[in-house]
Formats: sequence, structure tokens, C-alpha cells
Amino acid sequence: MTVLRLTRPDDWHLHVRDGAALAAVIPFTAARFARAIIMPNLKPPITTTALAEAYRGRILAALPPGARFEPLMSLYLTDRTDPEEISRAKGSGFVHGAKIYPAGATTHSDAGVTDVRRLDAVLARMEELDLVLQVHGELTDPAVDVFEREPRFIEQVLAPLAQRHPRLRIVLEHISTITAVQFVLGAREGIAATVTPQHLLMNRNALFAGGIRPHHYCLPVLKAERHRAALLAAVAGGSRRLFLGTDSAPHGRRTKEIACGCAGIFSAHAGIELYAEAFEEAGALEKLEGFAAFHGADFYRLPRNTGTITLARESWEVPACYPFGPDELVPLRAGERIHWRLSGAAAA
Ligand code: NCD
Ligand code: ZN
Repeated sequence: MTVLRLTRPDDWHLHVRDGAALAAVIPFTAARFARAIIMPNLKPPITTTALAEAYRGRILAALPPGARFEPLMSLYLTDRTDPEEISRAKGSGFVHGAKIYPAGATTHSDAGVTDVRRLDAVLARMEELDLVLQVHGELTDPAVDVFEREPRFIEQVLAPLAQRHPRLRIVLEHISTITAVQFVLGAREGIAATVTPQHLLMNRNALFAGGIRPHHYCLPVLKAERHRAALLAAVAGGSRRLFLGTDSAPHGRRTKEIACGCAGIFSAHAGIELYAEAFEEAGALEKLEGFAAFHGADFYRLPRNTGTITLARESWEVPACYPFGPDELVPLRAGERIHWRLSGAAAA
């Protein structure tokens, strides 16, 4: 049997929610990853260092006994964020980034940023203190085609922003298009991107395979095959600018299987295994460790992990659902097989 031993990976884009939902999902991540950037889009959002500190405490308290896992916090930027809050965040030692959600772009983004020009002073402070900016890169104008929202955002918002703040380090989250791949690989120093398992493994046909598939709906929405192929080729190329961010985004079944379902795919139950499948498909398993364990840590200027995990080339069937507070959670590949299995983890 083929076995793959990797330095313990990190997840640089993760939603864990709060309360019973948090308790239901955090064990999956802690079993695989040493650290994760915890997305701040709670309701109400994590807009201050004080809120991030309290949320971090709730995450630590929800960990299974003996788990070794470090939540890396991120602040949710709004039109009213004070540059002083950036200084507090940087000084805390546990806030590692701040995120732009364009208002209305995705789940719990109604408090998001209406015009990035309002953030100039905040971004200047982030640039000065070297706090990473994380960006949900989609235009929200309903007149823009949903498949074009990422390219248009890059041209109209992100490229000019990166020029106005030439030393600001930026992560374009969950990239989904050829435009994003080309932008990130060709950009100035200090620009990187996370890539999700769904955008590496599925194209938009997965939304309509034999009928409408709400559990494959996420934002940015899955794109045409040529975009998936470009993303896979880019990560297989081993660029230091690309790293693992599952964007695992749990929503209860009852909020997915309705007339207007939430965006988000839950993948934490197989948060490294799914990437092993993608890298195997690309014939680039030797590039998985850099993508999963080194590039993100280097970009965030954090030490690389020292423990290891072991994956075996062994197929297993994903449960149809997992418990999720009063609801249940339908994971990616529910009732189907995944071809790599986590077989061991050793914290150093
Ligand atoms: C995320 C969520 O549910 O919080 N949903 C998603 O489809 N990715 C929000 C986000 O990252 O856009
Ligand atoms: Zn996300």
C-alpha cells in the first residue's frame, strides 16, 4: 500500500462557526491540521481583537481532550474599522490577518466593505505593521455575471489596491479562475492565494449532475473545466504563492436543501485527503507537502510545523451525514468514496 508521510499541514482558510456547530466540526480539523486561519464571518462578525480573543477561547475550549491545535485569528473589516484596531490586532500575537468581505458577497457578509477606498487608512496601517490582508475576491454588483465576479474584482478592485499599497501582503482567498491564477503568479512580491479542494476536484457540472446539487454550491461558485485544470496545473507547478485553504464552510442540511440555499461546502472531514487525490490526479504528489505545510507558514511568517501526518492510499466511504447541533451536516463526497485515508498523526 502506498503511504505518504507529510509535515503536519495547516489550513489557511477555515470556517468553524460557534456553539454546538463549532463543537461538531473542530475535531475534524484538529485531527489533521496543526493550525488554521479562522474566518471571522460570525453573526455578529469578529470585528475587534477583543472579540477575536473571546472566540479563540471558545475554539480552544471546544477541542477534544489532548488535541494540539492552534487557531489563528482574523478580523472582519467593515467601513467603520478604526486603524487603531489594526494596531491592537497586530500587538495581540494571535490575530494574523484581517479580511475584506465585499458587502453582500457571501454568507454573513452584510456588514462587509461597501467601497475599499474607505479602507485606505486601515490598509496603510496593515501595510506599516505587516498584518496580512485576506480578500474575498468577488464583485457583488448583481449586474455582473456570477461566473465573472472574480475576474472583474481582480481588474477593478484588487489590482489597483495592490498598487496603492505596494508593501501590503495580500492573500486572494479560494481562487477559482484562470484570471486569478495568472494574476497571483504574475503579481508583485507579497501576493498569494489559497486554493480549495472543491475548486481543484470539481467543475460547474457538479452543480447540475442529474439534478440540482445544493451541497456543491459554494462561493466563489464552481467554474468551467478549463479553470479547474488551470488551478490544478498551478498547484502542481509548486508555486510558493499557492497554499492550502479548505474554505470548509459548514451549513446544516436544512439551510442547504431549501428554495434559497446557503453557499458553503463542508470538507474538514477529509481536509487533507481530498488534496492528496487532486495532487495524485495531477501526477504531483511530491508537491503536496509544500502546498499543505510550507508555503502558507512561510507567507504568514510563522514557523513551519515539526510533527507529521501519514496518509494511506486506501479508499473509504464518507458517511451520508455527520451530527451538527440540532441539524445534520452533509459532507463533501457524502456516501461516496475518497481514495486517501488519514492513518496517523504525530505532534512533535
Ligand atoms: C462561506 C461561509 O459559508 O461562511 N461560504 C462559501 O461558500 N465559501 C463564506 C465564504 O468564504 O465565502
Ligand atoms: Zn470562506
